[in-house]
Amino acid sequence: MIKKILLGLLILVVTFAIGFVLLILARYDRTFDTPYPEITASTDSAMIARGRNLATGPAHCGECHSQLSELSKVSTGGESTYSGGFAFELPIGKIYVANITSDEETGVGKLTDREIARALRYGVRHDGRAMIDFMPFYDLSDSDLTAVISFLRTIKPVKNPIPQHEWNFLGKAVLAFLIEPAGDGNVPAAPPIDSTALYGKYLAASVANCRGCHTNRDMMTGAFIGTEYAGQMKMEVFDEEGKIVPGKHLVTPNLTFDAETGRMSDWTQKDFIKRFREGKLIQGSPMPWGPFSRMSDLELTALYRFLTSLEPVVSAVPLGIQEGNPQ
Ligand code: HEC
Ligand code: HEC
Repeated sequence: MIKKILLGLLILVVTFAIGFVLLILARYDRTFDTPYPEITASTDSAMIARGRNLATGPAHCGECHSQLSELSKVSTGGESTYSGGFAFELPIGKIYVANITSDEETGVGKLTDREIARALRYGVRHDGRAMIDFMPFYDLSDSDLTAVISFLRTIKPVKNPIPQHEWNFLGKAVLAFLIEPAGDGNVPAAPPIDSTALYGKYLAASVANCRGCHTNRDMMTGAFIGTEYAGQMKMEVFDEEGKIVPGKHLVTPNLTFDAETGRMSDWTQKDFIKRFREGKLIQGSPMPWGPFSRMSDLELTALYRFLTSLEPVVSAVPLGIQEGNPQ
């Protein structure tokens, strides 16, 4: 009798496991018919200049969309060709960064403005697949989204075919159940470009992703679980080839001006600007210091004014590279 029950249970468990595997395989490739934003690229030179400034500075597109050989240049403040090909080697697989030059065959030349706009506003690729949260530009204003796409249209085409992503089984499970379109599409107009805390907030939250890294997040879902800008997110350290350095992590510092635990509590506006001009000091840090070093004094002043306006939060963070994996 007991044997029969055990056998029955075993069959149940095996059937369930097989069913689960089949479900993952059936679902990981799912597509979404998220709507397209009404965005049309412009040929206006001021618009293109604005897009270029965002892409090479605070929005740091080149930090990822480069070839491996040009990454060290970009991460020290140089310009990218935007021809992609660099790959992140993650526990879920090998993810290749797209070629976003205007090349028709291997770049985004043949994508429509609205397809590119949807990728940035909702995290949905041109083929309808949802993307993992590399590009949280969901709240970029209509005008700035137009500017960025207008700039992309002017990038010299570079033929650089990008391989398909290599998702492993864990990656497929994550795609099947956790990766969905993001952003709610309710995007307010951007505040005027000025050295105000209001504009700094827009840069920190919607353009430069300071908030996304300097807030503690749930590793699996990406949900915000800590106080915004109080740091505490454990992040991987990457080598120059995009591979995670095992057994090491960095913790994002507390950007609020708490007298004891704020990383910048004794930094003046001058110190802040000077620190950004210096670029990356900790090798392997995922913070895009190179593109950020290109930000203007106006942008950095706005960021400083915003960060100093935040309620100070007690949140002590260890400095420098730490032992152990981030989990
Ligand atoms: C942190 C890394 C990172 C940054 C920064 C980044 N991207 Fe991406 N981008 C990726 C990755 C990875 C993919 C491939 C995602 C996929 O195919 O699932 C991608 C894909 C794309 C695509 C292709 C979408 C499609 O339909 O195939 C476009 C367009 C794009 N990025 C534009 C941009 C622009 C513009 C910026 C700056 C405003 C930017 N990206 C910043 C990592 C990044
Ligand atoms: C991709 C994640 C990421 C993003 C985006 C990011 N940071 Fe960081 N930041 C880090 C990590 C990790 C560290 C710790 C390692 C280091 O100092 O480079 C750090 C360190 C810092 C430090 C301390 C530097 C020092 O010398 O001790 C400051 C200040 C800072 N970030 C401000 C910002 C601001 C402002 C933004 C937005 C403009 C921002 N960060 C965006 C991950 C990020």
